[in-house]
Amino acid sequence: MIIRPVRDSAADAAAVREVAAAAFGGPAATVRQDAPDVRAVRHEARTRHLVRTDPQGCWLAEDGGRTVGAALSLRREGLWLLAVLVVDPAVQGKGVGRLLLQRAAAHGRGCLRGMLCASPSPAAARRYRLSGFTLHPAMQLQGPVDRAGLQDPGDLPVHPGGPGQLHLLDSVDRRLRGAAHGPDHGFMLAHFEELLVADSLAGSGYCYRDGGEVKLLAATSKRIAVRLLREALARVPEGTDALVEHLTAEQEWAVDVGLEVGLTVGTRGYVALRGMRPPVPYLPNGAFL
Ligand SMILES: CC(C)(COP(=O)(O)OP(=O)(O)OC[C@H]1O[C@@H](n2cnc3c(N)ncnc32)[C@H](O)[C@@H]1OP(=O)(O)O)[C@@H](O)C(=O)NCCC(=O)NCCS
Repeated sequence: MIIRPVRDSAADAAAVREVAAAAFGGPAATVRQDAPDVRAVRHEARTRHLVRTDPQGCWLAEDGGRTVGAALSLRREGLWLLAVLVVDPAVQGKGVGRLLLQRAAAHGRGCLRGMLCASPSPAAARRYRLSGFTLHPAMQLQGPVDRAGLQDPGDLPVHPGGPGQLHLLDSVDRRLRGAAHGPDHGFMLAHFEELLVADSLAGSGYCYRDGGEVKLLAATSKRIAVRLLREALARVPEGTDALVEHLTAEQEWAVDVGLEVGLTVGTRGYVALRGMRPPVPYLPNGAFL
């Protein structure tokens, strides 16, 4: 078996997607609602984006020319983030994940802080804890939005945002987690349905929404965060279930908003952090964190 860098090619992006689908039990195992072809295109585009921004952070495991595992990681201003760690079920439990994680983690050398959203897999939890991450059990909110529960928005304005506000988004992130998302906003703006921004004397924040999914939310106060989350949920199309993931106990403000609009609370996986406490109020993106 060899571990080699992922190339910025259609073939490697497809290989990462295929091994990820196998590791997670195929697309049918996900709760997401977008069409499989949209998901595939986005997955491959995301791999190529990360290979371009972080060529040293992205690794493939190959055995006899067949891809058996992948790790994609990124470094943003002193924060190391793990986007993907997957191993083909046929070779799981044989140390491939450990080797891939070691290579990806080497890209984060010199970063004092690390962050990843972990699946419920006990093997993953073991790997991450043994790599020094603190595992914060996470909740998710899911289901149809009961619009009767949506509160009057009050006097905090929220607007659709765009590329002109990237400095604001980066400032919010630096304050909350010590590092901006930088080039990842370009990807999120291109692939997610909308960006909502709040910026007033009361504070600032932003939220990406795509269909029913809240993809990322960061704000300088819980009041702004609550306003953004309510607005995002109000904009979930009728007939589409909402999904808000990666909520640790610190994000109770978001759990309360979910309960207001009738979403169901469940537990799923962990937010794993090294060298930092959970940023608050903050809902990470599973890949760009
Ligand atoms: C998580 C994953 C990447 C790990 O890769 P892997 O090659 O199986 O991992 P390794 O063999 O290097 O290490 C797994 C460790 O967990 C242990 N383990 C495996 N199954 C376990 C279980 N059910 N309970 C507890 N420990 C378990 C193994 O013994 C091993 O520990 P050790 O090396 O200290 O003995 C892989 O299992 C996978 O792709 N899972 C499905 C997708 C997923 O959840 N990815 C993580 C996303 S955050």
